[in-house]
Amino acid sequence: MRIWNIYQQAIDMGIGSDPRGREAVLESLRDRQADYHALPEAEALHFDKEMLHNPYPDTRLLYGEPTTTVRHVFMGIDIGPAELMLVDRLNQQGADIDLVIAHHPEGIALTTLAEAMALQTDMFSCCGVAVNVAEQILQGEAEKTTVSIVVENYNRSVDMARLLNLPFMCVHTPTDNLVQQFWEQRFAAAAPRRISEIMAMLEAEPEYAEAHKYAAGPMLLAGSERNRPGKIMVDMTGGTDAGPTLYGKLEQAGVGTIVAMHMSNGTLEILQKQHINVILAGHMSSDSLGINLFLDALEAQGVKVTAGSGLTRFSRLEQGA
Ligand SMILES: [Fe+2]
Repeated sequence: MRIWNIYQQAIDMGIGSDPRGREAVLESLRDRQADYHALPEAEALHFDKEMLHNPYPDTRLLYGEPTTTVRHVFMGIDIGPAELMLVDRLNQQGADIDLVIAHHPEGIALTTLAEAMALQTDMFSCCGVAVNVAEQILQGEAEKTTVSIVVENYNRSVDMARLLNLPFMCVHTPTDNLVQQFWEQRFAAAAPRRISEIMAMLEAEPEYAEAHKYAAGPMLLAGSERNRPGKIMVDMTGGTDAGPTLYGKLEQAGVGTIVAMHMSNGTLEILQKQHINVILAGHMSSDSLGINLFLDALEAQGVKVTAGSGLTRFSRLEQGA
């Protein structure tokens, strides 16, 4: 595959599993194109044109040529200077890694990450929160997210990749969409009767069983195993945390159980007050599951994969899943 094919594969899989649905994603791209064409020339110069065709600001080629042929990728959850040095070292030992893929965004994919939060408007409104409420709360949270990111050293890893001449990209929301869809479909099909059944479903997937070995397996943070789940909300995609205010609307929306990838300070207490069962599935394990579905597609096309930096690699290719 070429880098461009891998990038396009990520975007296609992200759209195919997007909680908004394919048509809504394509509509958002058409809106963006119309906004761009309406801009005065001076402003159009600064427009982020990659976003005219890519709905995921946190998924980008950060360094390298799109036409480069890729036979071997290194993928990890977080790629910082240490991982880039590691890859350079592995290549000195003959690994021939052609492309490094981060899950968590870096560079411009990080500074524009807040734009990926808009997707959560649909996630929360599908669960019963009024769309205007979800949208306005998320807009406020997105601004806070941007302000906290742009003051950080956002381009450090990209600079290092450039100096080492290592092609570097990141794939964030598409693989989070894949794990979101994976669990939404499984819970819908199984219709678990007790929280214990949800816990067992999580533990049955190898990424969560592996995390369990490191004392980071699925945890029931609120509620009891014997409780009935009620309406289940899977909360695994949408850029970054929506902030506690929006979670305060879930009882009213009729959500009974939340299955989340991570849980920020303050949110758990808000959910407990609303009598919502809270299952912390796990961050590295849930990220790994989504990434593994993507890496399976690369492996099926002949790309060798080396996993590191918190990514636990399990292939579902032989299961035909
Ligand atoms: Fe993550």
